[in-house]
Order: sequence, then C-alpha cells, then structure tokens
Amino acid sequence: MSLLLGGVSRAFGGVRAVDDASFSVADGEVHGLIGPNGAGKTTLLNLVSGLLRPTGGKIELDGRRIDGLPPNRVAALGVARTYQNIRLFGGLSAADNVVVGQHLRRNAPVWRRLLLLPSARNEERAAREAAEAGLARVGMRERALTRAFNLSYGEQRRVEIARALAAQPRLVLLDEPTAGMNPNEAAAVARLVREVANEGRAVLLIEHNVRLVMELCDRVTVLNFGKVIARGTPVEIGKDPAVIAAYLGESQ
Ligand SMILES: Nc1ncnc2c1ncn2[C@@H]1O[C@H](COP(=O)(O)OP(=O)(O)OP(=O)(O)O)[C@@H](O)[C@H]1O
Ligand SMILES: [Mg+2]
Repeated sequence: MSLLLGGVSRAFGGVRAVDDASFSVADGEVHGLIGPNGAGKTTLLNLVSGLLRPTGGKIELDGRRIDGLPPNRVAALGVARTYQNIRLFGGLSAADNVVVGQHLRRNAPVWRRLLLLPSARNEERAAREAAEAGLARVGMRERALTRAFNLSYGEQRRVEIARALAAQPRLVLLDEPTAGMNPNEAAAVARLVREVANEGRAVLLIEHNVRLVMELCDRVTVLNFGKVIARGTPVEIGKDPAVIAAYLGESQ
C-alpha cells in the first residue's frame, strides 16, 4: 500500500475544502481524483505534498505519517507533483527548469551548484542528463533549450511532468496534466502515465477529461464539496447515481 488517507480534512475559515476524505493509492496504480470545480481536488493534492497541513485525519506513505511534514521532506520520501497553475521559471530553458526542480527537491544549496565547485560538477552533469532523458520521455527533446515562456501551454505542462519524473518518485501527483493540450498531446500523456505506473510507481491524477479517466484509471475517487461521494473502478463510478447527480448539478 503506497498512499493512505484516513479521514483527512482541511478547512479554510468556514469552507470545508476537504472533509473527512479516506482512500488509498497502491503502487503501480493510476488513481483518478475527479469532481466538479471547487470540489477540493487541488487542496487534497496540496495536503499530500505538504503544501498544506490537514486540520484533521492522517496521511501515510508506506505506513509512515507524512501529514504535517514540509514539502521538501515529503519530496525526499519520493513524492513528486505537477501544478494546476504551471510553475516554471519563464526565463529558463526547459532543461534548466527540470534541473532546478531537482535541486529544489533535494533542498541542497543551489548557490554551491551555480558556482560549479568541482565537487558539484559530477552531480550537475548527472542532473542535466536526467533532465534531458526526462524531456525526451515527454517528447520534448528538441525543445530542451527553449525558454519556458516561449513554449506552448501543452509543452509547459510536459516540462512539469518531466520535472516530476526526473526525481524517480514512488508517488506522482498530477493536477490536470492534460489541461490546454490538444487530443494528441493528451493521449501521449495518458500513455506516459500508464508507463509510469507500470514501473511500479503510484499515480494520483486529477483530470477533467472523463473519457481519459475512464480509459486510463484503475480506480477513481470522486469528491464533491470536499467529501468522497464515490470510489471504485471507472465503470462503477460511471453508473453511480451520486456521481451523475454531482456532475449534472455542475452543468445546470
Ligand atoms: N488557500 C485557500 N484559501 C481559502 N479557500 C481556499 C483556498 N484554496 C482552496 N480554497 C477553497 O477550497 C475549495 C476547494 O478548492 P480546490 O481548489 O481544492 O478545488 P478543485 O477541486 O481543485 O477545483 P478545480 O476543479 O476548479 O481546480 C474551494 O471552495 C476553494 O475556494
Ligand atoms: Mg484544482
């Protein structure tokens, strides 16, 4: 069992953004996290990655409590993520963004690397090679030296995915990785996510594209107003009356 959430809650003032949520994500599993806008999906990812502390409940990674740990400690335990609002350094190349991401994750002094002290050079070279391999994996080899602000939205998302995967995480958290992508790009990301899970990593995926969720996910958890309203296989979720009502409610 890789990730376990037990009765996790997070309130913002009077808003219960996540309300007593329990579910688990196993190694090798692609677990979908879906729900209407404002359901609490991003808040839940922020709780797992350490950006937010829960106001109740527990989060365990392989049986070890991680709730309350700062993001760098959670990352050091093998958790990597992408963001709904892309977080890249616009003036840096795609490759440098992936490299910098690795430094931040290690929480090592960046200045030491920027000075390129001899002791840091080998590590720097390894980080760069990992970055280039990661970019190749998301189909961005030719764009490695392009500055992030010159990349399309879909390409920027792919750089974020490469940055997350460069850490060789055991658990990958993806917040709407295909948003703004064309269907070909989205299909390529779906294939990549499956590959990543096949390597034995756990994937928790927030995704609005229902068809993609249905095709890709092993299991799905549905949030509505912070609460888990359904859990199961895509087929089970697809015919769950509470899920159908939540989505119809959104479109009215
Ligand atoms: N930092 C914050 N301060 C106050 N309220 C917040 C904060 N972050 C989220 N919320 C509120 O918590 C609720 C859940 O938001 P969240 O962003 O987690 O939803 P979501 O499911 O990711 O939605 P979307 O599909 O639109 O991305 C919303 O009511 C939101 O306004
Ligand atoms: Mg969100």
